[in-house]
Amino acid sequence: MTSPATTPQAAALRVLHVAAEVFPLVKTGGLADVVAALPVAQAELGADVRLLLPGYPAVIESVQGARPVIDIGACFGALRVRLLLGRMPGTALPVYVIDAPYLYRRAGGPYQAADGEEWPDNLQRFALLGWVAAHLAADDADPAWVPDIVHAHDWHAAMACAFVAEHLPTRAASVFTVHNLAFQGLFPMHDWPLLGLASRLMSPAGLEYHGQLSFMKAGLKFADRITTVSPTYAQEIATHEFGCGLDGVIRGRGATVSGILNGIDEAVWNPATDPAIAQRFDAERLAGKVACKRALQAELGLQPDADALLLVVVSRLTAQKGMDLLLAALPELLPQGVQLAVQGTGDPALEAAFRMAAQAHPGRVQVHIGYDEARAHRLVAGGDMIAVPSRFEPCGLTQMYGLRYGTVPLVRRVGGLADTVPDAADPAEGAGFVFEPATPLALGQALQRALALRRNPSGWVALQRRGMGRPLSWRPPAQAYQALYLEALRERRGG
Ligand code: ADP
Ligand code: GLC
Repeated sequence: MTSPATTPQAAALRVLHVAAEVFPLVKTGGLADVVAALPVAQAELGADVRLLLPGYPAVIESVQGARPVIDIGACFGALRVRLLLGRMPGTALPVYVIDAPYLYRRAGGPYQAADGEEWPDNLQRFALLGWVAAHLAADDADPAWVPDIVHAHDWHAAMACAFVAEHLPTRAASVFTVHNLAFQGLFPMHDWPLLGLASRLMSPAGLEYHGQLSFMKAGLKFADRITTVSPTYAQEIATHEFGCGLDGVIRGRGATVSGILNGIDEAVWNPATDPAIAQRFDAERLAGKVACKRALQAELGLQPDADALLLVVVSRLTAQKGMDLLLAALPELLPQGVQLAVQGTGDPALEAAFRMAAQAHPGRVQVHIGYDEARAHRLVAGGDMIAVPSRFEPCGLTQMYGLRYGTVPLVRRVGGLADTVPDAADPAEGAGFVFEPATPLALGQALQRALALRRNPSGWVALQRRGMGRPLSWRPPAQAYQALYLEALRERRGG
């Protein structure tokens, strides 16, 4: 135990991660991958780390050895709320689960029903998540374990920061990580009374955002430290162009905002050990990658053409991801020996457009509208290149998966893509192809440069190997978070 007057050392820090997703139990995007891997990396550094998750069916069914910690009773519309403590399958990381059957035990996604409609009670569902986090921090939910740091991820967990700051006396410092500023958790202001917060916070200086109630603002206003998932995105969100209407709030937080680049889970994304792929490989044994490409072309019904440049996409199909740029560039690319394999779900219009492209170009374009983790590994392993032409990208993980698998990224110079993929023009570091304007022309020009380099096989292999050798582990980011936690705690506890 730490004495009240001192700040704990990094090794002893008690960290509570609060999030709405975790791989492999519940995943809609990269947030789940981060919430699965960062705590493990922190635990390896000696921190005492736990998760707090909503008790969706997949969580209740998968968490191991769950036992009740406290009966919370009725709150946020649910009659029976309990806090359980168990362990994550696979990693044995301790995880608190909020068992609130009325709010969380339903079929469908974490945020939406199967028909794509937002759950109408998301305010209650995610206010409860933040509220329980704050009670853990305030030492009245589990006296056996009180966190030093409450680390809330995205708007779903952001209310934890407001409850910690405004409602409950606690010695914990709060850290809020913005994974995507575009999703803000906005609710009608008339639901304010449900939160049980002081009415003076019902203003632009508090949680109000243009007449609505914003969970994202709870994190941005009240967290002791704000982080985003890449240094470039940290700068971008302070601008009008990327700030989603919150750039003023972010600028107002000054130096408490910083960017810490995500890593990748090297136990899950590693071509030398990946059980999902046709043949394992590494930077020294790239023959396995050739076999993966052959197997992928066969699986997808693409022409078995070893020379074709097989471009893959594993992505949400949305405007954020720049998928329309890729579609528009396609007619120019296909005659030059490019094949395209897409896996994703999202905007119905983009899904339909990709389906039509596949129908129009059988054997050269293959599209799978759906979510499939193992298939994603086979795409990443078998592709020559992976396209991430995003309009904005807080970090982006698939370009890093591509780097690890010798699958050369084609990315826009934005957010975390700019921070993770040096352009091939750099002879020492180059590992991908980077373009700037969000236009099909610029995307096409970057791909022309890739096609040109592929005519020089040893140059291409050197590019692949540089990418495969890039450091992508979670260890440095985990260390950066530790330093940030200590700084936040020193400030809060005046140590
Ligand atoms: P975002 O979180 O914005 O969607 P990221 O690149 O950070 O983008 O993370 C996306 C994650 O979701 C990656 O792990 C990627 O492999 C995965 N993913 C996205 N779409 C699919 C899909 N259709 N099938 C399988 N995995 C997918
Ligand atoms: C968000 C972002 C993505 C990032 C992920 C994990 O979903 O859109 O860029 O990689 O969170 O931090």
